[in-house]
Amino acid sequence: MKIVYEIISFIILIFVIHAILSTVHFLLDLYEIYTKPFKTKILNMFNIKQKGKHKHKEESKNAGTNNATAPVATNRITNAFNFLIGVDEAVEKIKDALELPIIYPEKVKEYRIKPAKGILLYGPPGTGKTSIAKATALYFGCTFIYLKASDLLSSRVGESEKNLSKYFEYARANKPAIIFIDEIDTIGMKRDGMNINRASDILLNTLLVEMDGLISNEGIFVIAATNRPDILDEALTRPGRFDHKVELKLPNRESREKLFVLYLSKRPLAETIDARYLSRVTEGFSPADIRAVCENAAVKALKREIKNTAEKGIKMEDIIEEINKIRGSL
Ligand SMILES: Nc1ncnc2c1ncn2[C@@H]1O[C@H](COP(=O)(O)OP(=O)(O)OP(=O)(O)O)[C@@H](O)[C@H]1O
Ligand SMILES: [Mg+2]
Repeated sequence: MKIVYEIISFIILIFVIHAILSTVHFLLDLYEIYTKPFKTKILNMFNIKQKGKHKHKEESKNAGTNNATAPVATNRITNAFNFLIGVDEAVEKIKDALELPIIYPEKVKEYRIKPAKGILLYGPPGTGKTSIAKATALYFGCTFIYLKASDLLSSRVGESEKNLSKYFEYARANKPAIIFIDEIDTIGMKRDGMNINRASDILLNTLLVEMDGLISNEGIFVIAATNRPDILDEALTRPGRFDHKVELKLPNRESREKLFVLYLSKRPLAETIDARYLSRVTEGFSPADIRAVCENAAVKALKREIKNTAEKGIKMEDIIEEINKIRGSL
């Protein structure tokens, strides 16, 4: 009898050790993603001008001459996609397109493989297009340049395309690099002759020319995002430009349940939250909607606690109320 007890105790001990090790591993992952110094530079129109002028000049000077070999990415954060739910298919497609040219640039050359130049992310608002682009840069250890197409459009003639070329120049000096163009439809709308917008036409042409500048653009990848792929000019989607198209869809029930767990698990809860039920009543919600529901419910619970310290934590009814508010606006 005693031996049976000892075996059972031993098995329980193994389970406990396994659970502790898994928790430590998970915490280390979290620590790494939030604290690792990013080589990745997140830039925008505003702070690129603030970067040391001399450094930028130096980089630009090298940009034209240093094209013989595309540097291999270092300092990668390989779990960068782990906190995005329900996007496995999209992530696989992106990895497929970029893995060879970013990690094995010399081999790609040797085998004369034409590397991907552009990836178009499309799907409804709040499905993670911008988040995936950022995570891609972290995953591959690339310089990340964030551009909003509408910000690029300047009212001064000639200014917009000069700006765009400047970002490509910066990318050439900081390879491997990902240039992310958000809301590409603003400049890449079909040109129908009726609605001629000269500034955006010229900007679109500049983008196409930059993307066609193959040799010097080795190690530079453009990711663009839109909610309206149907209105994009064919010049953009033609082979050799954004020839990889990746769709981001609204999450299914299972993913919605995981999203509720993700956005509620670290917040104080007043009672057991039925994430499965919540996922059933949120058909059509995007990840951004679910995040907003959880954040607003948290604000509501905090305000209640401030009024009455005995009432701590988010209640199921707080969440349902926020769900109803968002459903009304869908
Ligand atoms: N798959 C996901 N898993 C977890 N969180 C997500 C996911 N997708 C989006 N989110 C969250 O939703 C918010 C909005 O996401 P994001 O800005 O990436 O969406 P988007 O598709 O670029 O939206 P838009 O079309 O409005 O620009 C972010 O805070 C992000 O954390
Ligand atoms: Mg976005």
